[in-house]
Amino acid sequence: MIDRRASAENESNSNGDNDDTLPSHETTTPSTVSLPMIDLEIHDIEGIGPTTAKKLKEAGIVSVMDLAVASSEELAIDINTSKESAATFVIGAQRLLRDSKVIDKEFLTADAALEKRKAMLRCSTGSRALDELFLGGIETQAVTEFYGEFGSGKSQICHTLCATARQSIDSGGMDSGVIYIDTEGTFRPERVEQIARARGLDHRLVLKSVAVCKVYNSSHLELIVKDLGRYVNEFKAKLVIIDSIISLHRAEFLGRGTLANRQQKLNGMLHKLIRLAEIFNIAVVITNQVQSSPDTFFGDPTKAAGGNILGHSATYRISQSPERIELQR
Ligand SMILES: Nc1ncnc2c1ncn2[C@@H]1O[C@H](COP(=O)(O)OP(=O)(O)OP(=O)(O)O)[C@@H](O)[C@H]1O
Ligand SMILES: [Mg+2]
Repeated sequence: MIDRRASAENESNSNGDNDDTLPSHETTTPSTVSLPMIDLEIHDIEGIGPTTAKKLKEAGIVSVMDLAVASSEELAIDINTSKESAATFVIGAQRLLRDSKVIDKEFLTADAALEKRKAMLRCSTGSRALDELFLGGIETQAVTEFYGEFGSGKSQICHTLCATARQSIDSGGMDSGVIYIDTEGTFRPERVEQIARARGLDHRLVLKSVAVCKVYNSSHLELIVKDLGRYVNEFKAKLVIIDSIISLHRAEFLGRGTLANRQQKLNGMLHKLIRLAEIFNIAVVITNQVQSSPDTFFGDPTKAAGGNILGHSATYRISQSPERIELQR
Protein backbone atom coordinates (compact mmCIF):
# COMPACT_ATOMS: atom_id res chain seq x y z
CA MET A 1 0.00 0.00 0.00
CA ILE A 2 1.23 3.44 -0.82
CA ASP A 3 0.72 5.95 1.93
CA ARG A 4 1.81 8.96 0.02
CA ARG A 5 -0.43 11.42 -1.74
CA ALA A 6 0.67 12.61 -5.08
CA SER A 7 -0.94 14.37 -7.93
CA ALA A 8 -0.13 14.76 -11.55
CA GLU A 9 -1.64 17.86 -13.02
CA ASN A 10 -2.37 18.02 -16.71
CA GLU A 11 -2.01 14.28 -16.75
CA SER A 12 -2.91 12.40 -19.85
CA ASN A 13 -6.06 10.52 -19.09
CA SER A 14 -8.08 10.38 -22.18
CA ASN A 15 -6.26 9.63 -25.36
CA GLY A 16 -3.75 6.91 -25.80
CA ASP A 17 -1.83 8.88 -28.39
CA ASN A 18 -0.71 12.22 -27.06
CA ASP A 19 2.68 13.63 -26.07
CA ASP A 20 2.74 11.81 -22.80
CA THR A 21 2.66 8.37 -24.31
CA LEU A 22 5.54 6.02 -23.73
CA PRO A 23 7.78 5.04 -26.59
CA SER A 24 6.25 2.36 -28.72
CA HIS A 25 7.58 -1.16 -28.45
CA GLU A 26 7.32 -4.25 -30.47
CA THR A 27 5.09 -6.85 -28.97
CA THR A 28 6.33 -10.35 -28.49
CA THR A 29 4.56 -13.47 -29.51
CA PRO A 30 2.26 -14.64 -26.73
CA SER A 31 3.94 -16.99 -24.32
CA THR A 32 2.42 -18.98 -21.54
CA VAL A 33 1.90 -16.78 -18.52
CA SER A 34 3.17 -18.39 -15.36
CA LEU A 35 -0.01 -19.20 -13.51
CA PRO A 36 0.12 -21.58 -10.57
CA MET A 37 0.55 -25.06 -11.94
CA ILE A 38 -2.00 -27.31 -10.35
CA ASP A 39 -2.53 -30.94 -11.12
CA LEU A 40 -4.47 -31.37 -7.91
CA GLU A 41 -8.00 -32.66 -8.01
CA ILE A 42 -10.98 -31.71 -5.89
CA HIS A 43 -11.16 -35.25 -4.47
CA ASP A 44 -7.58 -34.84 -3.16
CA ILE A 45 -9.01 -32.51 -0.53
CA GLU A 46 -9.51 -34.11 2.84
CA GLY A 47 -13.20 -34.73 3.60
CA ILE A 48 -14.43 -34.40 0.01
CA GLY A 49 -15.83 -37.57 -1.44
CA PRO A 50 -17.33 -38.27 -4.88
CA THR A 51 -20.81 -36.99 -3.90
CA THR A 52 -19.54 -33.60 -2.71
CA ALA A 53 -17.17 -33.39 -5.67
CA LYS A 54 -20.14 -33.93 -7.98
CA LYS A 55 -22.17 -31.24 -6.21
CA LEU A 56 -19.24 -28.84 -6.44
CA LYS A 57 -18.85 -29.56 -10.13
CA GLU A 58 -22.53 -28.86 -10.69
CA ALA A 59 -22.04 -25.54 -8.88
CA GLY A 60 -19.24 -24.67 -11.35
CA ILE A 61 -16.35 -25.47 -8.99
CA VAL A 62 -14.11 -27.75 -10.99
CA SER A 63 -10.66 -27.10 -9.57
CA VAL A 64 -9.03 -26.84 -6.15
CA MET A 65 -8.22 -23.22 -6.97
CA ASP A 66 -11.92 -22.46 -7.67
CA LEU A 67 -12.79 -23.85 -4.27
CA ALA A 68 -9.96 -22.07 -2.48
CA VAL A 69 -11.15 -18.65 -3.64
CA ALA A 70 -14.88 -19.38 -3.13
CA SER A 71 -16.93 -17.62 -0.50
CA SER A 72 -18.14 -20.18 2.04
CA GLU A 73 -21.48 -18.36 2.44
CA GLU A 74 -22.23 -18.56 -1.28
CA LEU A 75 -20.90 -22.09 -1.50
CA ALA A 76 -23.24 -23.22 1.29
CA ILE A 77 -26.22 -22.02 -0.76
CA ASP A 78 -24.89 -23.39 -4.06
CA ILE A 79 -24.31 -26.93 -2.83
CA ASN A 80 -27.07 -26.90 -0.25
CA THR A 81 -24.98 -27.52 2.81
CA SER A 82 -24.29 -25.78 6.12
CA LYS A 83 -21.98 -22.77 6.26
CA GLU A 84 -19.66 -24.75 8.56
CA SER A 85 -19.27 -27.59 6.04
CA ALA A 86 -18.75 -25.14 3.19
CA ALA A 87 -16.10 -23.33 5.23
CA THR A 88 -14.37 -26.68 5.92
CA PHE A 89 -14.22 -27.41 2.17
CA VAL A 90 -12.78 -23.98 1.38
CA ILE A 91 -10.21 -24.24 4.16
CA GLY A 92 -9.38 -27.80 3.03
CA ALA A 93 -8.75 -26.53 -0.52
CA GLN A 94 -6.54 -23.72 0.77
CA ARG A 95 -4.61 -26.14 2.99
CA LEU A 96 -3.99 -28.48 0.06
CA LEU A 97 -2.72 -25.60 -2.06
CA ARG A 98 -0.52 -24.44 0.82
CA ASP A 99 0.88 -27.93 1.39
CA SER A 100 1.57 -28.19 -2.34
CA LYS A 101 3.34 -24.78 -2.19
CA VAL A 102 0.92 -23.28 -4.72
CA ILE A 103 -0.07 -20.56 -2.29
CA ASP A 104 1.74 -19.04 0.65
CA LYS A 105 1.76 -20.41 4.15
CA GLU A 106 -0.43 -18.65 6.73
CA PHE A 107 2.59 -16.93 8.23
CA LEU A 108 5.43 -15.71 6.07
CA THR A 109 8.74 -14.41 7.30
CA ALA A 110 9.43 -10.90 6.07
CA ASP A 111 12.14 -12.09 3.68
CA ALA A 112 9.71 -14.57 2.10
CA ALA A 113 7.11 -11.79 1.87
CA LEU A 114 9.75 -9.71 0.09
CA GLU A 115 10.34 -12.55 -2.38
CA LYS A 116 6.60 -12.66 -3.03
CA ARG A 117 6.55 -8.93 -3.70
CA LYS A 118 9.36 -9.51 -6.23
CA ALA A 119 7.06 -11.83 -8.18
CA MET A 120 4.72 -8.87 -8.60
CA LEU A 121 4.43 -7.58 -12.16
CA ARG A 122 3.63 -4.04 -13.25
CA CYS A 123 1.68 -3.03 -16.31
CA SER A 124 2.31 0.36 -17.85
CA THR A 125 -0.73 2.64 -18.06
CA GLY A 126 0.66 4.09 -21.26
CA SER A 127 1.17 7.45 -19.57
CA ARG A 128 4.64 8.28 -18.32
CA ALA A 129 3.40 10.59 -15.54
CA LEU A 130 0.80 8.10 -14.34
CA ASP A 131 3.39 5.31 -14.38
CA GLU A 132 5.64 7.47 -12.19
CA LEU A 133 2.77 7.87 -9.76
CA PHE A 134 2.39 4.08 -9.64
CA LEU A 135 6.15 3.54 -9.44
CA GLY A 136 6.11 1.75 -12.79
CA GLY A 137 2.52 0.81 -13.57
CA ILE A 138 -0.46 -0.93 -12.08
CA GLU A 139 0.49 -3.87 -9.89
CA THR A 140 -0.45 -7.51 -9.80
CA GLN A 141 -1.56 -8.84 -6.38
CA ALA A 142 -3.63 -5.65 -6.05
CA VAL A 143 -6.98 -4.12 -6.93
CA THR A 144 -6.65 -0.68 -8.50
CA GLU A 145 -9.73 1.52 -8.63
CA PHE A 146 -10.13 4.48 -10.98
CA TYR A 147 -13.01 6.70 -10.03
CA GLY A 148 -14.21 9.96 -11.44
CA GLU A 149 -17.01 11.85 -13.08
CA PHE A 150 -18.33 10.87 -16.52
CA GLY A 151 -15.95 11.69 -19.34
CA SER A 152 -12.93 11.81 -17.03
CA GLY A 153 -11.15 9.08 -18.98
CA LYS A 154 -11.68 5.92 -16.90
CA SER A 155 -12.69 3.79 -19.88
CA GLN A 156 -9.89 5.26 -21.99
CA ILE A 157 -7.31 4.11 -19.44
CA CYS A 158 -8.90 0.65 -19.49
CA HIS A 159 -8.69 0.55 -23.29
CA THR A 160 -5.03 1.63 -23.15
CA LEU A 161 -4.24 -1.10 -20.60
CA CYS A 162 -5.63 -3.65 -23.07
CA ALA A 163 -2.88 -2.60 -25.47
CA THR A 164 -0.03 -2.28 -22.97
CA ALA A 165 -0.67 -5.60 -21.16
CA ARG A 166 0.24 -7.55 -24.31
CA GLN A 167 3.69 -5.97 -24.49
CA SER A 168 6.69 -7.88 -23.20
CA ILE A 169 7.65 -7.51 -19.56
CA ASP A 170 10.83 -5.65 -20.59
CA SER A 171 8.70 -3.15 -22.48
CA GLY A 172 6.43 -2.37 -19.53
CA GLY A 173 3.72 -4.93 -20.25
CA MET A 174 2.96 -8.34 -18.77
CA ASP A 175 3.03 -10.39 -21.96
CA SER A 176 -0.45 -11.53 -21.10
CA GLY A 177 -4.06 -11.71 -22.07
CA VAL A 178 -6.69 -9.36 -20.68
CA ILE A 179 -10.20 -10.03 -19.44
CA TYR A 180 -12.43 -7.01 -19.99
CA ILE A 181 -15.78 -7.08 -18.24
CA ASP A 182 -17.94 -4.38 -19.74
CA THR A 183 -21.00 -3.45 -17.69
CA GLU A 184 -21.76 -0.17 -19.43
CA GLY A 185 -21.54 -1.25 -23.07
CA THR A 186 -18.65 1.17 -23.67
CA PHE A 187 -15.92 -1.26 -24.78
CA ARG A 188 -14.83 -0.39 -28.32
CA PRO A 189 -12.41 -2.82 -30.01
CA GLU A 190 -11.72 -0.20 -32.66
CA ARG A 191 -10.45 2.14 -29.92
CA VAL A 192 -8.06 -0.57 -28.68
CA GLU A 193 -6.91 -1.06 -32.27
CA GLN A 194 -6.43 2.70 -32.68
CA ILE A 195 -4.37 2.92 -29.46
CA ALA A 196 -2.27 -0.13 -30.41
CA ARG A 197 -1.57 1.29 -33.88
CA ALA A 198 -0.68 4.71 -32.44
CA ARG A 199 1.89 2.99 -30.23
CA GLY A 200 3.33 0.93 -33.04
CA LEU A 201 2.09 -2.33 -31.54
CA ASP A 202 0.85 -5.37 -33.39
CA HIS A 203 -2.85 -4.48 -33.21
CA ARG A 204 -3.99 -7.91 -34.38
CA LEU A 205 -2.10 -9.60 -31.58
CA VAL A 206 -3.41 -7.05 -29.07
CA LEU A 207 -7.03 -7.58 -30.15
CA LYS A 208 -6.64 -11.36 -29.98
CA SER A 209 -5.36 -11.02 -26.41
CA VAL A 210 -8.46 -9.29 -25.06
CA ALA A 211 -11.42 -11.43 -23.98
CA VAL A 212 -14.48 -9.22 -23.61
CA CYS A 213 -17.60 -10.08 -21.69
CA LYS A 214 -20.58 -7.79 -21.92
CA VAL A 215 -22.62 -7.98 -18.74
CA TYR A 216 -26.25 -6.95 -18.59
CA ASN A 217 -27.31 -7.26 -14.96
CA SER A 218 -25.84 -7.42 -11.47
CA SER A 219 -26.47 -11.17 -11.03
CA HIS A 220 -24.63 -11.86 -14.28
CA LEU A 221 -21.68 -9.78 -13.05
CA GLU A 222 -21.60 -11.66 -9.73
CA LEU A 223 -21.63 -14.95 -11.62
CA ILE A 224 -18.76 -13.90 -13.89
CA VAL A 225 -16.71 -12.72 -10.90
CA LYS A 226 -17.42 -16.00 -9.15
CA ASP A 227 -16.04 -17.98 -12.10
CA LEU A 228 -13.22 -15.57 -12.83
CA GLY A 229 -10.43 -17.95 -11.74
CA ARG A 230 -11.43 -20.31 -14.54
CA TYR A 231 -11.47 -17.52 -17.15
CA VAL A 232 -8.12 -16.18 -15.95
CA ASN A 233 -6.59 -19.59 -16.64
CA GLU A 234 -8.45 -20.06 -19.91
CA PHE A 235 -7.35 -16.71 -21.39
CA LYS A 236 -3.93 -16.66 -19.66
CA ALA A 237 -4.85 -13.25 -18.34
CA LYS A 238 -2.72 -11.25 -15.94
CA LEU A 239 -5.09 -8.31 -16.08
CA VAL A 240 -8.79 -8.24 -15.30
CA ILE A 241 -10.68 -5.02 -15.99
CA ILE A 242 -14.21 -4.34 -14.75
CA ASP A 243 -15.63 -1.16 -16.25
CA SER A 244 -17.56 -0.36 -14.08
CA ILE A 245 -17.88 -2.36 -10.88
CA ILE A 246 -20.89 -0.51 -9.54
CA SER A 247 -23.13 0.76 -12.35
CA LEU A 248 -25.41 -2.30 -12.51
CA HIS A 249 -25.81 -2.63 -8.74
CA ARG A 250 -26.41 1.09 -8.48
CA ALA A 251 -29.10 0.97 -11.14
CA GLU A 252 -30.84 -2.13 -9.80
CA PHE A 253 -30.74 -1.60 -6.05
CA LEU A 254 -32.76 1.55 -5.61
CA GLY A 255 -33.81 3.11 -2.34
CA ARG A 256 -32.45 2.95 1.19
CA GLY A 257 -34.16 -0.40 1.91
CA THR A 258 -31.96 -2.21 -0.60
CA LEU A 259 -28.69 -0.57 0.40
CA ALA A 260 -27.53 -3.24 2.85
CA ASN A 261 -28.20 -5.99 0.32
CA ARG A 262 -26.37 -4.11 -2.43
CA GLN A 263 -23.35 -3.44 -0.22
CA GLN A 264 -23.23 -7.08 0.83
CA LYS A 265 -23.16 -8.18 -2.82
CA LEU A 266 -20.48 -5.63 -3.71
CA ASN A 267 -18.46 -6.73 -0.69
CA GLY A 268 -18.63 -10.37 -1.81
CA MET A 269 -17.41 -9.50 -5.30
CA LEU A 270 -14.59 -7.27 -4.06
CA HIS A 271 -13.27 -9.84 -1.64
CA LYS A 272 -13.27 -12.44 -4.36
CA LEU A 273 -11.33 -10.04 -6.60
CA ILE A 274 -8.75 -9.39 -3.86
CA ARG A 275 -8.27 -13.14 -3.30
CA LEU A 276 -7.91 -13.75 -7.04
CA ALA A 277 -5.40 -10.91 -7.42
CA GLU A 278 -3.22 -12.35 -4.67
CA ILE A 279 -3.48 -16.05 -5.43
CA PHE A 280 -3.20 -15.79 -9.22
CA ASN A 281 -0.72 -12.88 -9.13
CA ILE A 282 -2.97 -10.83 -11.42
CA ALA A 283 -3.77 -7.13 -11.64
CA VAL A 284 -7.42 -6.21 -11.15
CA VAL A 285 -8.57 -2.81 -12.38
CA ILE A 286 -12.04 -1.56 -11.54
CA THR A 287 -13.70 1.70 -12.41
CA ASN A 288 -16.17 3.45 -10.17
CA GLN A 289 -18.52 6.36 -10.52
CA VAL A 290 -18.84 9.39 -8.27
CA GLN A 291 -21.81 10.65 -6.33
CA SER A 292 -22.45 14.17 -5.12
CA SER A 293 -21.71 14.83 -1.50
CA PRO A 294 -24.02 17.72 -0.47
CA ASP A 295 -22.39 18.06 2.96
CA THR A 296 -19.09 19.21 1.40
CA PHE A 297 -18.72 22.99 1.70
CA PHE A 298 -15.09 23.22 0.59
CA GLY A 299 -13.17 21.25 -1.97
CA ASP A 300 -14.51 18.56 -4.27
CA PRO A 301 -18.29 18.12 -3.81
CA THR A 302 -18.14 14.59 -5.26
CA LYS A 303 -16.94 11.32 -3.78
CA ALA A 304 -16.53 7.76 -5.01
CA ALA A 305 -19.74 5.72 -5.09
CA GLY A 306 -20.04 2.47 -3.17
CA GLY A 307 -19.29 3.85 0.29
CA ASN A 308 -16.85 2.28 2.71
CA ILE A 309 -17.08 -1.17 1.14
CA LEU A 310 -15.33 0.02 -1.99
CA GLY A 311 -13.17 2.48 -0.07
CA HIS A 312 -11.68 -0.25 2.10
CA SER A 313 -11.34 -2.88 -0.61
CA ALA A 314 -9.23 -1.33 -3.34
CA THR A 315 -5.47 -1.41 -2.77
CA TYR A 316 -5.04 1.78 -4.78
CA ARG A 317 -7.69 4.43 -5.45
CA ILE A 318 -7.20 6.96 -8.19
CA SER A 319 -9.43 9.97 -8.36
CA GLN A 320 -9.77 11.24 -11.86
CA SER A 321 -11.13 14.36 -13.51
CA PRO A 322 -10.52 15.61 -17.04
CA GLU A 323 -7.77 17.91 -15.70
CA ARG A 324 -6.25 15.99 -12.84
CA ILE A 325 -5.40 12.51 -11.56
CA GLU A 326 -4.65 11.82 -7.90
CA LEU A 327 -3.45 8.64 -6.23
CA GLN A 328 -5.15 8.38 -2.89
CA ARG A 329 -3.47 5.38 -1.38
N1 LIG B 1 -12.19 7.18 -29.73
C1 LIG B 1 -11.77 8.22 -29.02
N2 LIG B 1 -10.75 8.98 -29.46
C2 LIG B 1 -10.28 10.01 -28.78
N3 LIG B 1 -10.82 10.43 -27.62
C3 LIG B 1 -11.83 9.73 -27.14
C4 LIG B 1 -12.36 8.59 -27.78
N4 LIG B 1 -13.37 8.10 -27.05
C5 LIG B 1 -13.47 8.91 -25.98
N5 LIG B 1 -12.54 9.88 -26.03
C6 LIG B 1 -12.32 10.98 -25.08
O1 LIG B 1 -12.05 10.45 -23.81
C7 LIG B 1 -12.79 11.16 -22.85
C8 LIG B 1 -13.07 10.27 -21.69
O2 LIG B 1 -14.02 9.28 -22.05
P1 LIG B 1 -14.25 7.97 -21.19
O3 LIG B 1 -15.30 7.20 -21.91
O4 LIG B 1 -12.98 7.29 -20.91
O5 LIG B 1 -14.83 8.57 -19.82
P2 LIG B 1 -15.31 7.77 -18.54
O6 LIG B 1 -14.59 8.36 -17.40
O7 LIG B 1 -15.19 6.32 -18.77
O8 LIG B 1 -16.83 8.21 -18.47
P3 LIG B 1 -18.12 7.40 -17.94
O9 LIG B 1 -18.22 7.65 -16.47
O10 LIG B 1 -19.24 8.04 -18.68
O11 LIG B 1 -17.94 5.97 -18.30
C9 LIG B 1 -14.03 11.64 -23.54
O12 LIG B 1 -14.43 12.89 -23.05
C10 LIG B 1 -13.59 11.80 -24.96
O13 LIG B 1 -13.21 13.15 -25.21
MG1 LIG C 1 -16.55 4.77 -18.98
